[in-house]
Amino acid sequence: MSSLNSNIAAVMKQAVEQCKDNKGGENASYIPFLSSVPSELIGLAFVSVTGEVIKIQDADYKYALESISKVLTLALALEESGADAIHTKVGAEPTGLPFNSVMALELHQGMPLTPLVNAGAMATVSMIEATDKEQRWNKILDFQSELTNSKIELSDEVNQSEQTTNEHNRAIAYLLQSSGRMYSEPMEACDVYTRQCSTLINSVELATVGATLANGGVNPLSGKQLIKTENIPHILAEMVMEGLYDTSGDWAYDVGLPGKSGVGGGLLTVIPNVGGIAAFSPRLDPYGNSVRGQQMIKHVARTMGWNLF
Ligand code: DON
Repeated sequence: MSSLNSNIAAVMKQAVEQCKDNKGGENASYIPFLSSVPSELIGLAFVSVTGEVIKIQDADYKYALESISKVLTLALALEESGADAIHTKVGAEPTGLPFNSVMALELHQGMPLTPLVNAGAMATVSMIEATDKEQRWNKILDFQSELTNSKIELSDEVNQSEQTTNEHNRAIAYLLQSSGRMYSEPMEACDVYTRQCSTLINSVELATVGATLANGGVNPLSGKQLIKTENIPHILAEMVMEGLYDTSGDWAYDVGLPGKSGVGGGLLTVIPNVGGIAAFSPRLDPYGNSVRGQQMIKHVARTMGWNLF
């Protein structure tokens, strides 16, 4: 391991030690499965742009990808349709409102504003070029596997739990259709979006996604160019503006790095030209972001001097 990376490993260990006793926040409960995940789990992983892997504590534990999947599908849609199409059909503005806000849509004539809230993510899924639902789903799932350098699979248990409780998202999908911002059959987009949230990932796999974004779109573990280099700044800009929803501004102010949270407890952060860091801890703040995940990454980023601004 390089001396830089052994320094990162030491700081990551320190972060887990410092944060593990924080009992703040609660598991997500609006998706029944997520409330049953052991709250004490805590993991941290780093993958460098040169492919070195550091993992601490529960970094191999598999959890639901949830909203972090929005970044991966955005990358696929950018590859297929290009930056202008995403900008005009989905948008690039923070909403300043919760991730499943209907009011955000109402305030902007049904424009989702960003691919990183539920509305924009379903619109993005609907833009994936496909002849039917299974093709749409398989393209998204295969891309998750490429970006993580691992065979990613759907959890039937998580998917069942979400599909049977996602009335709010179905309503959003129909609102998008009514405003002309849904580009496939709305329930197809909602179903595939729900599946993309219900795959399982561990922190090393998530950090590998971050390392790919940090490395101009080349996955450092497989060596494959998965995302065009020109698309990376668009993805990172969306993450800075909306990655932690209505606390994205606080995250930019404090940490200064593109991030993306999921209600499964995962938190991905990209350090351009350095690597990806991923934290996992199920208890969330009121905005849907992992409490200890934010605390751990904040500690590592500050100590390492990674703030971009
Ligand atoms: O659609 C939902 O509400 C969930 N499947 C994902 C939400 C989520 O992860 C928000 N993130 N922090």
